[in-house]
Amino acid sequence: MAEPELVTQSRPLAAPALVVLAGAAGDLGHRIGLELLARGGLVRALVRPGNAKPAVALLRERGATVVEVGFDDVGALTAACAGAACVVSALSGLRDVIVDAQTRLLDAAVAAGVPRFIPSDYSIDFTKLPAGSNRNLDLRRAFGQRLDGAPIQATSVLNGMFADLLTGQAPVVLFKIRRVLYWGRTDQPLRFTTIANTAAFTAAAALDPTTPRYLHVAGEVATVRDLRAAATSVTGRRFRLLRAGGPWLLQLMIKIARRLAPAPNEVFPPWQGMQYLHNMFTMPPNSAPLDNDRYPDIRWTKVREVLAAKA
Ligand SMILES: NC(=O)c1ccc[n+]([C@@H]2O[C@H](COP(=O)([O-])OP(=O)(O)OC[C@H]3O[C@@H](n4cnc5c(N)ncnc54)[C@H](OP(=O)(O)O)[C@@H]3O)[C@@H](O)[C@H]2O)c1
Repeated sequence: MAEPELVTQSRPLAAPALVVLAGAAGDLGHRIGLELLARGGLVRALVRPGNAKPAVALLRERGATVVEVGFDDVGALTAACAGAACVVSALSGLRDVIVDAQTRLLDAAVAAGVPRFIPSDYSIDFTKLPAGSNRNLDLRRAFGQRLDGAPIQATSVLNGMFADLLTGQAPVVLFKIRRVLYWGRTDQPLRFTTIANTAAFTAAAALDPTTPRYLHVAGEVATVRDLRAAATSVTGRRFRLLRAGGPWLLQLMIKIARRLAPAPNEVFPPWQGMQYLHNMFTMPPNSAPLDNDRYPDIRWTKVREVLAAKA
């Protein structure tokens, strides 16, 4: 009797997912692109015509397809979104970008039949904030309403403050005078995540078709006391706490700063950074559990590691 013919049961190999990345030349954007490529994703990096930033060349070198496109052209954006499993935005700007350009990108994603969209949120949990308390986050809320009304699955990454700002623009850990400046309470939990961790997590989320509407992460949840301990430990010199006043005083300073230097076209004028700090020091402790363990390969950078770079 003839041997039954062996049939090789081959499952079709899943093709690598294509992610369309807007704002790919930016600081966070190009890091998301590199992380996507490192995770086996295909990247179509959207940049404005003529963008010659080194980040764009790097993405191309690592295997991304770079597409120059005007963000006022929904037809061109739709063509650029074709075949994608997810559109990720890392655009930065004011209303014309966060609401208007992202809406055109959203319309394009929907028209191209893209199933998922990750907006350029990457912030503290603005869903818990009163409207009017943070100009830039109000714009994200406004876009979020459009996103929620669109026939596409949305996921926002809420990572708190970029921890990198602690050794940069954020006037909290004051290395020169060895003080940690705060407003209000010493036990307020503050969420910090590095830009690198945010990029890695966003890339993993972009390649994960099962993400919920919001994902919360934090490299560390730290009070100002924790910041003081970390600064003292990494510098070997004693830091103290410096209470600038209650949140009401910061609110007053925001009003004055906004009146004196409104800079309406700047994305991050000083008063906007102050709004961000006010939100962090006054928002109700975030009860949303952290999704840090969702992608176990990510090693979360602690605040003390960030501060050590400055010590
Ligand atoms: N949680 C935090 O503490 C924190 C801190 C900083 C930033 N963020 C957030 O992270 C996200 C990315 O910020 P980032 O620092 O990476 O910004 P970035 O370096 O300034 O990059 C922004 C990108 O957006 C692009 N862009 C701006 N306007 C555009 C327009 N009209 N059309 C098309 N592209 C446009 C820029 O393109 P070009 O290269 O052509 O200029 C650039 O590539 C933003 O949502 C930002 O608010 C969060």
